[in-house]
Amino acid sequence: MTSRTVAVLRAAGCVFAEDEAALLIGEAPDESTLADWIARRVAGEPLEYIVGWAQFHGGRVLVEPGVFVPRRRTEAMVDAALDRLGSGVLLDLCCGSGAVAAAVMRSAPGSTVYASDIDPVAVACARRNLPCCTVFESDTFAAVPTHLRHGIAVLTANTPYVPSSAIETMPPEARDHEPRVTLDGGPDGLDVQRRVAAQARDWLAPGGSLIVEASAAQADTVRQIFAAAGLEPTVVHDEDRDATIVIGRA
Ligand SMILES: C[S@@+](CC[C@H](N)C(=O)[O-])C[C@H]1O[C@@H](n2cnc3c(N)ncnc32)[C@H](O)[C@@H]1O
Repeated sequence: MTSRTVAVLRAAGCVFAEDEAALLIGEAPDESTLADWIARRVAGEPLEYIVGWAQFHGGRVLVEPGVFVPRRRTEAMVDAALDRLGSGVLLDLCCGSGAVAAAVMRSAPGSTVYASDIDPVAVACARRNLPCCTVFESDTFAAVPTHLRHGIAVLTANTPYVPSSAIETMPPEARDHEPRVTLDGGPDGLDVQRRVAAQARDWLAPGGSLIVEASAAQADTVRQIFAAAGLEPTVVHDEDRDATIVIGRA
């Protein structure tokens, strides 16, 4: 079964066919489910939607169709958040599955963590991953409770940041399966980031930090957006994870 599955996945263009075959075979509860899963994978569906979870920052995050699949590069945001959180409050805006918030909770179990997303499908998924946290359905800060104003030590926001015109060049796995609201950041990719940065100082505690992810090409623009919003920006490139994050200190 293994070698046949590997061959089928390889023929469908899966680069890591051996690993994927081992995962599908190991996770499928029975033969008919396995056949169905292989067919879905051959049709291009993300592996994480099929098995129902993604590996992220040393743990498993539940994911489901309609929710952004957490990327390994976003682990850089988690490390930066943990470095700055102390005993403070973290709000994960644009939380998707809640991967960032859940990873922070795993590494700093006593933390006070909130999460929010505009998409009700993401909010439902994040609530499964964050049973001990409050998750809001909110367009950026619109529905975040006012008692958190000026009280947030770390604000993480992995906003959609792909420029609209670049969506069609994305791999079909993302383009055809992840909702556009999770990817499309407007003309230069930074529409939601601009909105978040503009309001961040109303929500951050003194000395608190906003942490966002961007492409390397966007980093200078994000730096300017942060400076204009009164945040002291630092750009960090994580070579190992191929990640660029921008940290803005209030
Ligand atoms: C790139 S995904 C990141 C998800 C998650 N933080 C992660 O890293 O896996 C962007 C998320 O932002 C959400 N989103 C898009 N526009 C938003 C807005 N105006 N307010 C809040 N969330 C938004 C999307 O629904 C999506 O879940």
